[in-house]
Amino acid sequence: MKQQCMAETFGFFQAWLKNPLRVAAIAPSDSALAALITSEISRDIGPVIELGPGTGAFTRALVARGVRQEDLALIEFGSEFAAALHFHYPRAHTVWMDAARLHTVELFDGRSAGAVVSGLPLLSMPPRKVIAILIGAFRKMEPDGAFYQFTYGPRCPVPHRLLDHLGLEAVRIGGTLANLPPAAVYRIRRTHAVPFDRVRFSSRQHVPSSKMAEARHAHYQSSGGRSFATWEKHA
Ligand SMILES: C[S@@+](CC[C@H](N)C(=O)[O-])C[C@H]1O[C@@H](n2cnc3c(N)ncnc32)[C@H](O)[C@@H]1O
Repeated sequence: MKQQCMAETFGFFQAWLKNPLRVAAIAPSDSALAALITSEISRDIGPVIELGPGTGAFTRALVARGVRQEDLALIEFGSEFAAALHFHYPRAHTVWMDAARLHTVELFDGRSAGAVVSGLPLLSMPPRKVIAILIGAFRKMEPDGAFYQFTYGPRCPVPHRLLDHLGLEAVRIGGTLANLPPAAVYRIRRTHAVPFDRVRFSSRQHVPSSKMAEARHAHYQSSGGRSFATWEKHA
């Protein structure tokens, strides 16, 4: 177990060296953060979607809370992580894709999820992508489903204005100093039952004009079908 943990930490660090913006942390999340972000989830909640599971620190905690592998969809953009997740959780639905395309995949035979747990680095993503991720996630959930997001920042990583526009609200459910760096977890829910397929958003006004955002957007556009295929198709 200790050896597996060291291998995971080393593999995570290597992935960060290769792609610091996508991985956005130098070490996997620790068990205190995993316990906090999964604290409101049990088997009874139904299917759970995990976005950006990385080495699977939150996945382990979800399984320990009784969530069946069959009720887990693991959406991961890093092929190195997706392969390992598929190996460790063979009955879960591991999908190697960009979480911004979540709306394009069918999960759990059409059943809605009870919760989404996200390890995604939302702060380093362009607003347009964050919007696509939130809309995709809330379309896949029951009306009272919750989106759990952690952050190293001092406030919710989704700006208030954006939450408002999408009819969402965020509540901080706790923080932990044990994680490196210290982190907090937010629960994001609908303020009222707006069907998400009716939400229209003019993303242009929110896309920052910095060179970095443009470069990220170009990379996103050019990734084509490669990013959207399931892991199984590429194994
Ligand atoms: C901060 S790390 C998560 C760490 C994870 N909790 C762990 O302990 O390993 C962010 C993860 O999100 C993944 N990721 C980043 N952008 C993504 C995207 N657009 N779609 C899916 N996964 C993404 C990264 O590959 C990485 O695994």
